Amino acid sequence: MEASLPLPELTPDETAHAARVLAHLVAGLQAAGGRWPFAAFMAEALYAPGLGYYAAGARKFGPAGDFITAPEVSPLFGDCLARQVAEVFGNLRAASGPPLTLVEYGAGSGTLAVQLLQRLAELGELPDAYAIVEVSAELRERQAEAVARLPPALAARVCWWPGHAAAPWRGVLLANEVLDALPVERLRIGGEGLEQRFVVASAAGLALDWQPAASALQAWFAEVGKELPLPLSLSLPVGTEFEACLAAGPWVQDALAQLTAGVALYIDYGLPRAQLYSPTRPRGTFSAFCRHRQHEDALWHPGLQDLTAWVDFTGVAEAGLAAGACVAGFTTQAQFLVNAGLDAAYAARLAGLEAGEPVEAGAATRALRLAALAQGAQRLLMPQEMGERFKVLSFTKGYDEPLVGFARRDLTATL
Ligand SMILES: C[S@@+](CC[C@H](N)C(=O)[O-])C[C@H]1O[C@@H](n2cnc3c(N)ncnc32)[C@H](O)[C@@H]1O
Repeated sequence: MEASLPLPELTPDETAHAARVLAHLVAGLQAAGGRWPFAAFMAEALYAPGLGYYAAGARKFGPAGDFITAPEVSPLFGDCLARQVAEVFGNLRAASGPPLTLVEYGAGSGTLAVQLLQRLAELGELPDAYAIVEVSAELRERQAEAVARLPPALAARVCWWPGHAAAPWRGVLLANEVLDALPVERLRIGGEGLEQRFVVASAAGLALDWQPAASALQAWFAEVGKELPLPLSLSLPVGTEFEACLAAGPWVQDALAQLTAGVALYIDYGLPRAQLYSPTRPRGTFSAFCRHRQHEDALWHPGLQDLTAWVDFTGVAEAGLAAGACVAGFTTQAQFLVNAGLDAAYAARLAGLEAGEPVEAGAATRALRLAALAQGAQRLLMPQEMGERFKVLSFTKGYDEPLVGFARRDLTATL
């Protein structure tokens, strides 16, 4: 992301769309009595049907979009995840039970679903069903288009669940960069106590305001610091800003409720709670993204930019435990990928490129493809890129085998 670049000029279509979103938000704000907790605003700005950022056809993913996610960076990400999934499926298949399902939450453009089905077919470990849980109708359509390009025997396995599993199931749950897209409340240690951000009406349409935090947030704040060496009220100086994702815990619990045997993997940028809520992060982690520019102005053309915050992985782990799951591993994305065979995946892709490159493709094209493979691996692994900022948290339920992705440098003790 390029923090220093100026925000882009809008096209006429974008200007018109931004005006429609703003009108929708102003009307919603008035209907809500003129004041929205930040999470309510964020939910509308991201997911209002036909208008919100994830629900209205913006390009979003990849170099031409606003941000780039790991499956879009390199197929090596899917290769390694497939190895982890195949290991679990192999063990589950050895025990008798109902069909195996791979459930992907928030499948974005469908890139990871396509990659996983292709790799799992090669590994002989296809799920009986690949179920996508996707909140955006527009993205469900995009995913269906991507899946339709697969061979029919693979495409036929894909289905879309309207929400969390409605019946017991076994298999693997994946959620890459979904937790960070759940609406957050934004908080500040004020001189008189905890404050929360509200979105209010203004002459320009919308404005941000700090007001005393609601009792539910006061209760969260008192509770969340209990396991830390110092309660947050003592460790964070006046003026410190941070976020609370109250939606994450119930969402994770509901997602795991019907899993009878298998593994869940949550991949996202985030930290254990003690590192996330820290004086070293005085402005918190909330960010807006537009065309690879990262900035803090949540009100810059709502509907045209992604809004996001880092994940409190301790909170996610607590939710999994409350759902009866065990924490089976926590590590950095780089370590997970290395543990799950990134070197072998890289060698296989390199050999495939070298063997498959037609002579007429020319030396320049060949060099470009080899460079793209190397750059993709670098981006997934490098600490200042995705390697360390992104973490992988896994849960197991009714499954006792070790997971290859956490074989080395398991950081569960830091949660
Ligand atoms: C940042 S994108 C990540 C997309 C994809 N996983 C990837 O790695 O490219 C977030 C995705 O989560 C979806 N999403 C957000 N909240 C969701 C929810 N509560 N349930 C299911 N999907 C959700 C969004 O619509 C979008 O597809």
